[in-house]
Amino acid sequence: MSDSQTNLQAPVLTIDGPGGAGKGTISRLVAERLGWHLLDSGALYRLTALAAGKHDVSLDDEASLAEVARHLEVMFVAEGGTTRVMLEGSDATTTIRTEQVGDAASRVAALPGVREALLSRQRDFRQPPGLVADGRDMGTVVFTDAPLKIFLTASAEERAHRRQAQLREAGVGASLSSLLKEIQARDARDMQRSVAPLKPAEDAITLDTTRLTIPEVVDRLTELLTQRGLLPDA
Ligand code: DC
Repeated sequence: MSDSQTNLQAPVLTIDGPGGAGKGTISRLVAERLGWHLLDSGALYRLTALAAGKHDVSLDDEASLAEVARHLEVMFVAEGGTTRVMLEGSDATTTIRTEQVGDAASRVAALPGVREALLSRQRDFRQPPGLVADGRDMGTVVFTDAPLKIFLTASAEERAHRRQAQLREAGVGASLSSLLKEIQARDARDMQRSVAPLKPAEDAITLDTTRLTIPEVVDRLTELLTQRGLLPDA
């Protein structure tokens, strides 16, 4: 069987949704539980922004940014419950999570040339026994034939509370009202951009996690995968 046939057969669970809905945590836990591969597509946009900075490529230069994206030298190394992200041989795990890189990533992610350049790289993650793909356009653009598509959401207020708790743990104070404003602005930007705007795929199941715990969401997704016949019988 050729590689492309193998890839076609590997199931994909797409998890799209707004920032702060819990996609990252949920995707990682589901992938771990099933022993499936994990694609953190947001990390690829963050890495493109970081690599652009390293190589002095302007965030307005779409053609050069697309080249940077196409030739990203990146490795995801699973390590005891977390994944280390390596860019050109250096550890970029914490750097890509900074506010500054996040901002640059959102600009880079709005450019069609960059999105196109990252398409085949994202599709390469589709390998047996399966893939959990976390992002904004996994079900609508990258894996349109995925057998299970989830749109994970939560109220903006709940996401602001979660973000505040995360920041508090990191020793950073932030007011709820300013976090809420930031979240609402980012939602609007993500949903209104002309290329690959954030929206549920027509065949996606929307799961509102406002009143659900993380284990409840993971259980629900496992249940849905089982119902669709995507997991071997226990
Ligand atoms: O999920 P995240 O915060 O790591 O994403 C970083 C940026 O990339 C954010 O601005 C949204 C964007 N993104 C995107 O446009 N498409 C994706 N599939 C994933 C992320």
